[in-house]
Amino acid sequence: HRRLRVALLGAGSVGSQVAHLLLTQAAELAERSGADLELAGIAVRDVDAPRDVDLPRELLTTDAEGLIVGSDIVIELMGGIEPARAHILTALNSGADVVTGNKALLATHGAEIFDAADQVGASVSYEAAVAGAIPIVRPLKDSLAGDRVVRIMGIVNGTTNYILDRMDKEGADFADVLAQAQALGYAEADPTADVEAYDAAQKAAILASLAFHTSVPLEAVHREGITSIDKAMIDGARAAGYVIKLLAVCERLPADGDQGEDGEEISVRVYPALVGRDHPLASVHGANNAVFVEAEAAGALMFYGAGAGGIQTASAVLGDVVSAARRHIAGGVGVGESPRMSVPVAPIGRITTRY
Ligand code: HSE
Repeated sequence: HRRLRVALLGAGSVGSQVAHLLLTQAAELAERSGADLELAGIAVRDVDAPRDVDLPRELLTTDAEGLIVGSDIVIELMGGIEPARAHILTALNSGADVVTGNKALLATHGAEIFDAADQVGASVSYEAAVAGAIPIVRPLKDSLAGDRVVRIMGIVNGTTNYILDRMDKEGADFADVLAQAQALGYAEADPTADVEAYDAAQKAAILASLAFHTSVPLEAVHREGITSIDKAMIDGARAAGYVIKLLAVCERLPADGDQGEDGEEISVRVYPALVGRDHPLASVHGANNAVFVEAEAAGALMFYGAGAGGIQTASAVLGDVVSAARRHIAGGVGVGESPRMSVPVAPIGRITTRY
């Protein structure tokens, strides 16, 4: 077996689980990837901070750049824009493959990072960036690459789905349920990112870029959160046969006027939408996520599961690590991203409200 040096940046709820699994399942991971994955170190801000899982102290370091150089695979789970962006660029330029779960970074600097990877023939994989444990990035990028995705409707934020679900089922009050979601650990550090749909908008930009093989800037995503949803609206929706869900909708629009290369525009928007009670998305309860994909040949597909949580999201990260290791020992065959085209994004705004 070849030995691959793996650097982990970040030991929060996902990072600490990734470290734990790399250490405890080393034999299986080696068998599946064809390489011994040696966890060379874990870069953290504070080596003494409390962690979800006990990690060997000798692996912890505050010198991220020192750890990155000489590594074959760099896993970035620090979150935020800087220094994550700088570390990823260092990793790519030193020849490493990168695995990240950083939706905020990809939604704002994705093009820069993918271009950097293309230039050096390295890969950036990010299954964990959208909908936690649910495999959706690779299905859109690879499995559906021969089809034409027409529309995606995703429940991609667990916190808001939990809140809306509890309000619908129990007539619970918005503020009370938000406090519960925070206590359960679903919410972002600042819950504004969840309830005002910044988190879902980042995921929508990533999903739309994948589905339509383009690069959708975060600014092009129409965003509306759930803070204005009250009991009367939920009751009204129910009486009419609907449930209110925060949806990330990405769709091709019929050609008209300003058209792209293939005569189309796309629209990407996140907002509380009316979903028919018999639609599969209506049965996504609690903090779960689901991504409903409609493609021309495949028809309707739904991907469902845990959209948040440390160990659940670690599953997606490790899948990317195994793929990166296989790619690495195969000599970088199938390198890089598929070519990205530029499809004009339609003016932002709500187009359809009932599904
Ligand atoms: N706060 C996010 C959510 C975590 O509630 O879905 C996963 O990105």
